[in-house]
Amino acid sequence: MLAGKRILLIVGGGIAAFKSLDLIRRLRERGASVTPVLTRAAEEFVTPLSASALAAQKVYRDLFDLTDEAEMGHIELSRSADLIVVAPATADLMAKMAAGLANDLASTVLMATDKRVLIAPSMNVRMWQHPATRRNRQVLEDDGILTVGPTEGDMACGEYGPGRMAEVPDIVAAVEDALANGPLKGKHVVVTSGPTHEPIDPVRYIANRSSGAQGTAIAGALAALGAEVTFITGPADRDPPLGVRVVRIQTAEEMLTAVNTALPADAVVCAAAVADWRMAKESGSKIKKDGKGLPVLEFAENPDILATVAGLKKGRPTLVVGFAAETDDVIANATAKRKRKRCDWIVANDVRPETGIMGGSDNDVTIITADGAEDWPRMTKDQVAGRLAARIAETLG
Ligand SMILES: Cc1cc2nc3c(=O)[nH]c(=O)nc-3n(C[C@H](O)[C@H](O)[C@H](O)COP(=O)(O)O)c2cc1C
Repeated sequence: MLAGKRILLIVGGGIAAFKSLDLIRRLRERGASVTPVLTRAAEEFVTPLSASALAAQKVYRDLFDLTDEAEMGHIELSRSADLIVVAPATADLMAKMAAGLANDLASTVLMATDKRVLIAPSMNVRMWQHPATRRNRQVLEDDGILTVGPTEGDMACGEYGPGRMAEVPDIVAAVEDALANGPLKGKHVVVTSGPTHEPIDPVRYIANRSSGAQGTAIAGALAALGAEVTFITGPADRDPPLGVRVVRIQTAEEMLTAVNTALPADAVVCAAAVADWRMAKESGSKIKKDGKGLPVLEFAENPDILATVAGLKKGRPTLVVGFAAETDDVIANATAKRKRKRCDWIVANDVRPETGIMGGSDNDVTIITADGAEDWPRMTKDQVAGRLAARIAETLG
């Protein structure tokens, strides 16, 4: 099942570290090669010699070991893996990951990687339930980190509750899932996201309140299903998800060029809040308050990216999905938009300020297709993304 797969196993300094030795054996039995990285604390629980003997590999321990840097530095270590597994993931390691610290070999490798990361948390129940760990869990989930466990049960510290590391066979199964070919393997999906900025003069621009949260979540969810994702983003608040090809643009015209360059694609999801208008003529120098009255801004219409892609005669993607952010008559307007733009689906949402959707973490969408309107309950943008990605996989499958 894991033949030829290269796994970098980071062992944290937790009481469950001894199980990581068994994990090395089970992963190797299934054909994977395992390169262990031990934190300094991990060495208090398991010896590098045991990990090395079981992995039949050198064990990496020190960021500043110059011999290792010459042979295989921290960047090369993260590059050479198909998947990074952190087991046990201590509260400390999770906090470092969530904060983006890179102050030892394990955390630096985790910061330097663009590979998928699977963590198996393991800690005392109160550490697991601590507000700091809860916050870190949420950050890691948002960053697209995969998690297996923990389970509930008796703990080494004599307490009972959630926090026990998942059993080794469950971690192996999660590794297999993470490395499996998802239903979108071999499919190319272009996702546009975020606002566009349309310059007025060298210092001012027209923008909108889009945070890019929904587009980012969709790109991440599609990548998680194995799609090759080109993520074309305006200046958004969010970092792009891991495992996608990122193209950064500022204006609607640049976004259209980027989409055309990214094609062909099996699907295009236009989640960006593209400005409808730009300046008819951008001022080359800063417009001055010169006492001669107010400036008059003349607008020109921006290209319609969704309609352009949906209307392609040659090489039209199988599925073109648009978004309709509306403040009035949401369903009627979105239904009309789907017909006018000739796209396959429209994801409609009500962006009146009182809904808290624009810039918020929840979304309340209606999916409009040729078959009618399907109202989804209010849920997080990540959940909307997961459901939409699954629907796209079904349709392209
Ligand atoms: C006996 C003992 C057991 C420990 N078990 C755990 C544990 O299961 N989970 C955890 O998060 N921390 C545990 N700790 C605390 C960690 O070892 C400590 O936070 C350490 O800094 C973690 O370092 P690391 O994350 O770099 O490996 C334990 C400490 C001791 C002394």
